Amino acid sequence: MAFDYRKYAAFKPVRKTDRRWPDQVIEKAPTWCAVDLRDGNQALVKPMTVAQKQRLFDLLVKLGFKEIEIGFPSASQPDFDFCRKLIDEGRIPDDVKIQVLTQARPELIERTYEALKGVKQAIVHVYNSTSTVQREQVFGLDRAGIREIAVKGAIQVRDLAAKAPETEWTFQYSPESFTGTELDFAAEVVDAVTEVWRPDQGQPVIINLPATVEMATPNVFADQIEWICDNIQRREHLSISVHTHNDRGCAVAAAELAVMAGADRVEGTLMGNGERTGNMDLVTMAMNLYSQGVDPTLDLSGMSEITEVVEACTEISTHPRHPYAGELVFTAFSGSHQDAIRKCLARRTEGEAWNVAYLPIDPFDVGRRYEEVVRINSQSGKGGVAYVLERDYNISLPRWLQIEFSKTVQREAETNGGEIDSLTIHRLFEERYLKVHQDWELRGYDLHRDANGVRADVTVGAEVEPVTLQGHGLGAVEAVSDALEQRFGIAIAVEAYDEFALGEGTNANALACIRLMVNETHCSAAALAEDTTSATLQALFSAVAQVVGASRTAKQSDGEAVEV
Ligand code: KIV
Ligand code: ZN
Repeated sequence: MAFDYRKYAAFKPVRKTDRRWPDQVIEKAPTWCAVDLRDGNQALVKPMTVAQKQRLFDLLVKLGFKEIEIGFPSASQPDFDFCRKLIDEGRIPDDVKIQVLTQARPELIERTYEALKGVKQAIVHVYNSTSTVQREQVFGLDRAGIREIAVKGAIQVRDLAAKAPETEWTFQYSPESFTGTELDFAAEVVDAVTEVWRPDQGQPVIINLPATVEMATPNVFADQIEWICDNIQRREHLSISVHTHNDRGCAVAAAELAVMAGADRVEGTLMGNGERTGNMDLVTMAMNLYSQGVDPTLDLSGMSEITEVVEACTEISTHPRHPYAGELVFTAFSGSHQDAIRKCLARRTEGEAWNVAYLPIDPFDVGRRYEEVVRINSQSGKGGVAYVLERDYNISLPRWLQIEFSKTVQREAETNGGEIDSLTIHRLFEERYLKVHQDWELRGYDLHRDANGVRADVTVGAEVEPVTLQGHGLGAVEAVSDALEQRFGIAIAVEAYDEFALGEGTNANALACIRLMVNETHCSAAALAEDTTSATLQALFSAVAQVVGASRTAKQSDGEAVEV
């Protein structure tokens, strides 16, 4: 059987009885290190050109990263050239440290220092693999052999740095494949490295603990980090960094729990690009902090610029559901979600803490528009449709018309199988309710009120041959209905009627919506006009026309009863 779970063994959790990290709350952003230009670049089908690397580097600087891993100069000529370009052309801001990666191999460390000649400050990141599987199956070395590689690398890093005292050096060591390494051995190697580097004597040192492969749930990684922090020597002189990968889909969660467990620094990439399923996504983790009221120390307000540059450099598109950055992550199609969002946004007052249903952050903060929040498809309800008409066209609908019109929109969405944009919604509304047949166009009206009610003289029809109808009633609608009843031999009952004054931005001042029962047929219409009476009478004519037949004008009927 090919699909056989028995092929796999469960990861052994850390035996720990003094777990403290579950009670911690992150109140401060960790030190960030962006590894887009190294881990991210190594993982691309087509690695970045120098121009693409430069563009991404400039973006990382603009966002506020102070530590940026720019490449693996000893392993790749373009990385070497890019490193030289940054240094020779003075492109590294004074408050930014570039970081370069090297394996703990003498010739590679040597070349790394060549790439860094003349740099003001830099992090030299040296690593070797420490896990059981790598020791036993890849290197064929025992613990002592692996430790020796690390120590020799550390000595060489220290000695070459001493030859270039004009540079401020930070040393970084990663026991690669840390998550698959026995904790006591990881601590033993780390201690052996820091014994060489002596952070307690002033040398800045970062110990980076990678989940090279994410092998267990994030709580297990947090246990590993807490254990290491508790058991290594010189902890207080070290910056503990984590570098998580996303094999199980939990890289962000693992990094967050690791910070709760004591990590000071987090490595990752924008949008999570990286080997296999990718690296820890810096955008998501930083925005998670932001959404909790913690300063992320990065400026991610220009999310569309971030995705544009990342996409252009990596040639990988952003998933529309990517947290905080995807096209659809602030969009609600479902009617009940739209309704809740609209209500919360309407009640919101400036300055109060963000508390809007379904939206963990204010989309505006990352450069998104509220227009993108409510979008309409066949799953959307009356509220969303009404909201779009009001937001984009200043047309407010009464509830009964919202219910009725949303069915028209839903039918259209079901027929076309997709999203209905605001323009189409407006067109549907115009066609279904606002369109006035020229033979039913209100030309003028005269209303006389006396003790018996209202007498109406209304002129309706095409400009060349309008007709004047007369009727009586308690109000204008009743009087004009009377005129139409007489003319067509029909019975009109008004079932619903609403009028709205319109705000600025339209030619019309009033909107009237009417729903009638004509004989035994329901019909409804709306009309826009400069005054409410004109809007009301026009809506009445348009509704009656639907039953009587638009082509059968008021003039033509001549009192003949209408069968419907
Ligand atoms: O994932 C990893 O282990 C790495 C190391 C080189 C830090 O990228
Ligand atoms: Zn990595």
